[in-house]
Amino acid sequence: MKIAVYGASEYTGRLVAAELRRRGFDIVLSGRSAERLRQAAASLGLTGTNVRAADAADPDALAAAFEGCAAVINCAGPFTAFGHTVVRAAIAAGCHYVDTSAEQEFVQSLFETFGE
Ligand SMILES: NC(=O)c1ccc[n+]([C@@H]2O[C@H](COP(=O)([O-])OP(=O)(O)OC[C@H]3O[C@@H](n4cnc5c(N)ncnc54)[C@H](OP(=O)(O)O)[C@@H]3O)[C@@H](O)[C@H]2O)c1
Repeated sequence: MKIAVYGASEYTGRLVAAELRRRGFDIVLSGRSAERLRQAAASLGLTGTNVRAADAADPDALAAAFEGCAAVINCAGPFTAFGHTVVRAAIAAGCHYVDTSAEQEFVQSLFETFGE
């Protein structure tokens, strides 16, 4: 099973990616900077891992990055600023979605906007 980690370049994203790898999942590392994602992959020893850069404001690029994944784990905050675009792209790509947000306003807006 393939899982995309968005915001995989930094702290939480790297932890999530490392744990997914430990559990044997295929991983797509995604975020706005291909260079930083490659650095994260190298630091985690994830050579050959699929890196798919996509700007958080570009719905089509995000959906393409998430294509073929069963789920998206969004670790890129602040979520209130650009989280909805990532959620919409995950839905467009047919993925389950989860994130690391503790922003209550954002979490409430997810239920109100995407609950159905
Ligand atoms: N619920 C909890 O208890 C909990 C625990 C830990 C973290 N968090 C939340 O999880 C998020 C990540 O935390 P962290 O400690 O991993 O932070 P971090 O190390 O600063 O990483 C932030 C990540 O977000 C990405 N990002 C920032 N602005 C972006 C933008 N405009 N477009 C695309 N990507 C962008 C960064 O990508 P670049 O490398 O390209 O800058 C990086 O991958 C934060 O919102 C934090 O509040 C919640």
